[in-house]
Amino acid sequence: MPFNVFVTRHLTPDAEQKLNAFCNADYWPEKTPPPYEILIEKIQKVDGLVCMLTDPIDKGIIEQGNKLKVISQVAVGVDNIDLEAAAEHNIPVGHTPDLLTDATADLTFALILGAARRLIEAADYAREDHWKTWELTNLLGFDVFGSTLGIIGMGRIGQAVAKRAKGFNMRIIYYSRSKVPEVESNLGASYLPLDELLKTADIVSLHVPLNDETKGLISAEQLRLMKKNAILVNTARGEVVDTDDLVYALKNNQIGYAALDVTNPEPLPGSHELYKLSNTIITPHIGSATRTARNDIAILAVENLIAGLEGRSLPAAVVQRRQ
Ligand code: DGY
Repeated sequence: MPFNVFVTRHLTPDAEQKLNAFCNADYWPEKTPPPYEILIEKIQKVDGLVCMLTDPIDKGIIEQGNKLKVISQVAVGVDNIDLEAAAEHNIPVGHTPDLLTDATADLTFALILGAARRLIEAADYAREDHWKTWELTNLLGFDVFGSTLGIIGMGRIGQAVAKRAKGFNMRIIYYSRSKVPEVESNLGASYLPLDELLKTADIVSLHVPLNDETKGLISAEQLRLMKKNAILVNTARGEVVDTDDLVYALKNNQIGYAALDVTNPEPLPGSHELYKLSNTIITPHIGSATRTARNDIAILAVENLIAGLEGRSLPAAVVQRRQ
């Protein structure tokens, strides 16, 4: 087994079996990410790295990878990796698109429905023994069926959310880097400038990657444009939304509800103000957390890694090796 690989967390049994059969894999044994000094120490000795979205694979780390042939991320988003530095050092970077699209779109819909129908509040109400009778005007939410959904970022996951929205008879409006004619013809979605979308949508759902253009995309100015009862859903990356501005908007009834699977900071500490508000649902970045999706992405990450070590094109890459 000529190759040595550092894996920043345990994978699924299937993925580990495949990896162990191919190389010497050193797994970081903790649930939490390896400290930066450990990454620096390990990267100097290995041919390949399998990493998670919580590992900062910056220029400093990449530059220490004297023998490094491939970086393989177990996620579709790669905002934690300095892609320019990887390209400069001709190190291919793999990621795991497609396999988590449906899982993430399903969770987006769970959050939409959970927020619109105040599911967490209602469940707590029953659990805490406040349920004494049927009440005509208790725990009222709003109708998702027939409402207007604003999708920001019409990539794979945005499109999968739009498909689900069609079944709920929703009017679909979207804002994206470029227009997507298929969703317009197949799902009747219409493109709107961002400000118009924010003013019009009952539910705004974020599906953009994190980069310089999308960091803080939803801040005070954008939140002010949204409808008073609107729901903001974020299953993309926490930094797309300005957290302080969101807290202000929720407390001052500028918007109705926030349903967040990703936060800034992440993890969001248990003492954070967002948890104290009744008009929030916060889940711990579980967009792709189905057994199938997580196993599939772990296996694809191993396949990307093996291809990189063997000098082949990666099956799914954001940076390919230059020959
Ligand atoms: C990704 O793959 O980028 C997701 O955020 C993980 O759920």
